[in-house]
Amino acid sequence: MRNFEFYNPTRIVFGKGTIKSLNRLLDKNHRIMLTMGGGSIKQNGVYDQVQAALKGMDVIEFPGIQPNPEYETCMEAVQIAKEKNIDFFLSVGGGSVLDATKLIAAAIDFEGGDPWDILSKGKPVASAKPLGAVLTLPATGSEANGNSVISRRATGQKLAFSSPKVMPQFSILDPETTYTLSERQTANGIVDAFVHVMEQYLTYDVNTPLQDRQAEAILATLIEVMPKVKADPNDYDARATVMWCATNALNGLIASGVVQDWSTHTIGHELTALHGLDHAQTLAIVLPAMMQHQRKQKAGKIMQYGRRVWGLGDIRDEEALIDATIFKTAEFFCETGCPTHLSDYNLTLESCLPAAQKIADRGEVLGEHRAIGKQEVEAILELAV
Ligand code: NZQ
Ligand code: ZN
Repeated sequence: MRNFEFYNPTRIVFGKGTIKSLNRLLDKNHRIMLTMGGGSIKQNGVYDQVQAALKGMDVIEFPGIQPNPEYETCMEAVQIAKEKNIDFFLSVGGGSVLDATKLIAAAIDFEGGDPWDILSKGKPVASAKPLGAVLTLPATGSEANGNSVISRRATGQKLAFSSPKVMPQFSILDPETTYTLSERQTANGIVDAFVHVMEQYLTYDVNTPLQDRQAEAILATLIEVMPKVKADPNDYDARATVMWCATNALNGLIASGVVQDWSTHTIGHELTALHGLDHAQTLAIVLPAMMQHQRKQKAGKIMQYGRRVWGLGDIRDEEALIDATIFKTAEFFCETGCPTHLSDYNLTLESCLPAAQKIADRGEVLGEHRAIGKQEVEAILELAV
């Protein structure tokens, strides 16, 4: 097991009717900016619940944060927040609103020049304003991590930063808020959480049996619960299970002491930047192709996952077991609602190859063995046609 430090200071308040806890979680003296997306929270009653809980507090609203949130929008919020002396940010919505809120909270205190450098040059976040979240879409794990992914349409960039300074102080997770998710967003959330686990699991064994089984538990649970959520979007227990899986998939716990490989996400982010695909759709395209391309390097973990999660232990031939495991993974993504080929989204290989160039231009070589360079990314995309 690798050495690690695990610290997760985010208070999770989970369950039915928990939005009212905002009233006790927030300091009455704060000047709060309430950040939100394109209006879903006004349609499903979440906004009204938040308003009721914030009654009497000093709050200004910043609506209009896009899915795959934009840097320019974040900078507008920073400007307003500075003018109004905001000292607490409350994100109400999905991962995009929360990721944007994290950048806003960091940029407002940033003294090192252009805040874009936090994303493009990895400049450290020395301090950030405190933030909290009401999460309405289980997927990213952003509610319990220090990650944020921001896009810049003008330059076709989608980049991430990570800092413990932007971990939410608290996140309220009421599964009932997720009843109104579209089939597409529900599917996206399940696939995103699934792939988060895979990126922290599908590398090579460094003697982490507990972390492996924790990862496998999340994968098996998502597989079990997916048809229940699809059959009945108002099934509280199924929605609660998805929500807790998504948080546990990326709150740092299963990352402890293991070897990780985030290449599927890195390539996926480029596909979103190039073609505007939903984040999870890009992952459903890339992961099966990645497994195929890396079937030798990742053989041990692919087979363990196939045996333990998909129950394929009867297949004795190793190559056949790997084939069946990849097939099961792709089939699960399709059944969930995220098809696995570029052609399913009317994309050609040629139109996606610039993704490989952009990663290479940043000097990044991917994979747990740092062996996935430009040519390998191109080959992976070819396998995904
Ligand atoms: O904008 P509104 O009107 O709120 O509508 C949103 C949006 O259109 C809607 N929605 C959210 N909650 C809803 C709802 N609709 C009905 N009922 C509800 N309860 O869903 C749409 C998508 O929302 P978005 O926040 O974009 O989705 P998600 O949570 O999947 O976030 C995706 C973003 O997170 C990044 C992705 O790259 C992408 O930019 N990621 C962030 C990570 C992190 N911070 O750790 C890790 C992930 O790997 C990922 O990269
Ligand atoms: Zn993701």
